[in-house]
Amino acid sequence: MSANGTPVIRLEGVTKVFFTDEVETHALAGVHLDIRNGEFVSIAGPSGCGKSTLLSILGLLDSPSGGSYILNGKPAQNLNLAERARIRNREIGFIFQSFNLIGDLSVFENVELPLTYRGMGAAERKKRVQEALERVGMAHRMRHFPSQLSGGQQQRVAVARAIVGQPLILLADEPTGNLDSVNGEAVMSLLQELHRNGATICMVTHDPRFARHADRTIRLFDGHVVEEEEAGRAERDLVESGFVAEHGDRQRGTV
Ligand SMILES: Nc1ncnc2c1ncn2[C@@H]1O[C@H](COP(=O)(O)OP(=O)(O)OP(=O)(O)O)[C@@H](O)[C@H]1O
Ligand SMILES: [Mg+2]
Repeated sequence: MSANGTPVIRLEGVTKVFFTDEVETHALAGVHLDIRNGEFVSIAGPSGCGKSTLLSILGLLDSPSGGSYILNGKPAQNLNLAERARIRNREIGFIFQSFNLIGDLSVFENVELPLTYRGMGAAERKKRVQEALERVGMAHRMRHFPSQLSGGQQQRVAVARAIVGQPLILLADEPTGNLDSVNGEAVMSLLQELHRNGATICMVTHDPRFARHADRTIRLFDGHVVEEEEAGRAERDLVESGFVAEHGDRQRGTV
C-alpha cells in the first residue's frame, strides 16, 4: 500500500472483448486485482488466458471493455491522451513479449528513445543508455540494428529500454523467455534491484525459478484470476525472521 493505503493498481471487474470477423473473444472476463505500491507480482497461466492483454491494460496501451482500472487512485478512463502518454513515458516501463524494438533504429537509439521523448539532454541520455546497456551485457552491440541480434540479445535490449528511465511501475511479459539461465538470472537481478529501490513490478513468467522472486503469484485462467499465493513472501519472511539461518546453524552444530 502507498502511504495513504491506496493500492497503486486496482482493477474492478475488468473485462476485455476482442471482435474479429464475427468472433468474440473474451480475453478478460471480470478481473479484480489490487497491487500495492512496491509489490513484486508474478502472473502465470496457460497460453491465451489473457496475461498480455492484462499487462497492456495496466500499461495504458489498451483500455478495458468494461469495469474500471484505478491507477494511483485515479480512474484511468478519466485520463486524457496527454496524461496517458506522460504516465506511459515517465512512470511505466514495458518489456513486451515480442520485444517491439524499432527496426530502423540502432540498439543505442532504441534504448535512448524514451529519454528523447522526455526532452533529456544528449550527454545525460548517452550516460544513461550506456549504463543500461552495460547492465544487460549489450554495450558492445550499441551500433547494431535489431535484425542483427539474436532473440535473447533483442530481449536484453528491450529490458535495457524498459529500465533506462527508472520507472515506478515495470510491466514485464516473459522477460526471461528467450534467455539462457545465466542471462535470465542477470535480468532477474536487475528487476530485483528495481524492486528494492521501490518500483512496483508485474511480471508474466512460466518459470517457477523466476516466479519465486515475487511477493505474490497470480494465476489466470480463461480471463479470470483463479488463485493468488504469497509463496515468495513466506519464504523471505522465514529467512528474515532468522528461522532458516538459525535452524541451519543448529543443524551444522550437531554434525
Ligand atoms: N488484438 C486482438 N484481437 C483479437 N483477439 C485477441 C487480440 N489480442 C489477444 N486476443 C485474444 O485474447 C486472448 C488472450 O490473449 P493474450 O495475448 O492476452 O494471451 P496470453 O495469456 O498472453 O497468452 P500467451 O501465454 O500465449 O502469450 C487470446 O484468445 C487471443 O487470441
Ligand atoms: Mg502473452
